[in-house]
Amino acid sequence: MRVAVFGANGPTGRHLTDQALAAGHEVVAVTRRPGSLPARPGLTVAVADATDPAAVDAALGGTDAVLSALGSRFSKETITTYSASATAITGAMARHGIKRLLTVSSSIADPDWRPTGAHFFNHVLDPLVNRRLGHTLHEDMRRMETVIRQTNLDWTLVRPSGLFEHPTVTDYHTAATSADGVFTARVDLAASMLRELEERRYICTAMGVITTTVKPNIAKLIWNEGVKKK
Ligand SMILES: NC(=O)c1ccc[n+]([C@@H]2O[C@H](COP(=O)([O-])OP(=O)(O)OC[C@H]3O[C@@H](n4cnc5c(N)ncnc54)[C@H](OP(=O)(O)O)[C@@H]3O)[C@@H](O)[C@H]2O)c1
Repeated sequence: MRVAVFGANGPTGRHLTDQALAAGHEVVAVTRRPGSLPARPGLTVAVADATDPAAVDAALGGTDAVLSALGSRFSKETITTYSASATAITGAMARHGIKRLLTVSSSIADPDWRPTGAHFFNHVLDPLVNRRLGHTLHEDMRRMETVIRQTNLDWTLVRPSGLFEHPTVTDYHTAATSADGVFTARVDLAASMLRELEERRYICTAMGVITTTVKPNIAKLIWNEGVKKK
């Protein structure tokens, strides 16, 4: 399959690109920063801001499916990256007749999801990071989900929990709507999206994905995701 990957130079997008190429797909890596992606067999780099409808339209010509791992940083200001990119991507897909879309969202986008982790996560990290600092981001993620739900595409909203780095794919768990767990390795998130591309178990619904067999070190997680990534 020829798949477009949005956010291809981001941490999840890199796993998606590597795993898709390894699985024998051709990848069109869509990015604002082409220099960040080294040339490899099977990889085409398309330069586009994902919120620019004309640029997205040009990038998607000739692709069979779209995988998006786009993301934005937390901000006090209104965030529109998720909803604006969803509008541009779904519009271009409709014009090109591309039906299959898998987009990364979050467990937080499920209004009924509640963390069932350790006390510190449930009572400190989740309320402070997800609900307060991440408020505007998650508002826009919900707008993105609404944009996608209103299309006639074969969409899947992929909802991971707190992301962390792990070197190898684990025996991750998926569930309809959202999954009961607080962490997801990015490598598992990417693997679940590529498996769902083949299996089509969660068409026109949300798929939760969590990692259960390994856990991140919380201090490392806060350093990597909250401090180093900025
Ligand atoms: N962190 C968590 O715990 C957590 C939990 C649940 C869900 N999520 C979601 O999971 C997704 C992936 O997260 P991540 O940490 O792996 O990646 P990330 O750091 O959020 O990467 C974002 C990617 O999106 C690209 N991007 C942003 N705006 C763009 C635009 N307008 N046009 C083109 N590219 C654009 C960035 O490219 P540039 O390099 O050009 O900026 C980058 O490649 C995000 O949507 C995030 O919100 C995260």
